[in-house]
Amino acid sequence: TTPLNTAAKAAGKKYFGSATDNPELSDSAYVKILSDSTMFGQITPGNSMKWDATEPSRGTFTFTQGDQIANLAKANGQLLRGHNCVWHNQLPSWVTSGNFNAATLSSIITTHCGTVVGHYKGQMYSWDVVNEPFNDDGTFRQDVFYNTLGQDYISIALNAARAADPNAKLYINDYNIEGTGAKSTAMVNLVKSLKAANVPIDGIGVQAHLIVGQVPSTLEANLRQFTALGVEVAITELDIRMTLPATDALLAQQKKDYQTVIAACRAVSGCIGVTIWDYTDKYSWVPSTFSGQGAALPWDANLNKKPAYDGIVAGF
Ligand code: XIL
Repeated sequence: TTPLNTAAKAAGKKYFGSATDNPELSDSAYVKILSDSTMFGQITPGNSMKWDATEPSRGTFTFTQGDQIANLAKANGQLLRGHNCVWHNQLPSWVTSGNFNAATLSSIITTHCGTVVGHYKGQMYSWDVVNEPFNDDGTFRQDVFYNTLGQDYISIALNAARAADPNAKLYINDYNIEGTGAKSTAMVNLVKSLKAANVPIDGIGVQAHLIVGQVPSTLEANLRQFTALGVEVAITELDIRMTLPATDALLAQQKKDYQTVIAACRAVSGCIGVTIWDYTDKYSWVPSTFSGQGAALPWDANLNKKPAYDGIVAGF
């Protein structure tokens, strides 16, 4: 069967990719599949470029783990997506509990995004500069950044990232923006306002942590309304989970669902690529996050391809 990055490129996309994480890189059977650039033309670090990993205390930056992923991409000839600069999760307590005023927090964001993005200058296809800014009702998430700076924190982060690596595509990334609805409308309005204010913004990342049997019917239309804003779109964290145990029926539905998601991206020219949130159930974040659920990825925990794999190929 066709390797996935080969299939994506034949459909005119820039890549098909996977997230990965440092602990898994000691698993040689896992790394062998990950490193095949006909299968995965792009990788994303699942954790090691997040704030808690890169600036665990103020002004002290550590890139050892992030560099391991970046070096792997380079060795394999794969594109890299940076993930992420500013997010409410996996933030060190010095940020969340620092009680900084607006000027100080602004400078902390500028330093953080500028230093992290600058460290990888020239190596990144794109960066998720801002991750998960919205609540599900489309209001801004009341995190430390918004509560201190209002939505200005978003332009502060984007401007710092652009200055640090002018060639990286700058994204805002979120979940539950696959179909149309209040949260997707909020993303549209944010991107419009950033563009009107000449703030650099190049892409919208659609995470796509989905549930078997529940792919939104408005996915393709929604991707189109995003690209109509003059930005590119990428599916950045695709997985399609089910209530365990996996049955033949669920795996067959999952195959259809993967095909539906890939076909939607294929149909929209500004949807430039798809990344799955790791490729094997062995290392999926799903079972530890959503109790009783799992089997969300196209390879099973023994590194065997599932029906979902053929769904992806069929979707391209
Ligand atoms: C997840 C990682 O996969 C886990 O290992 C970690 O424990 C928690 O974060 N949305 C995102 C990702 O943007 O960064 C998250 O990654 C999954 C949800």
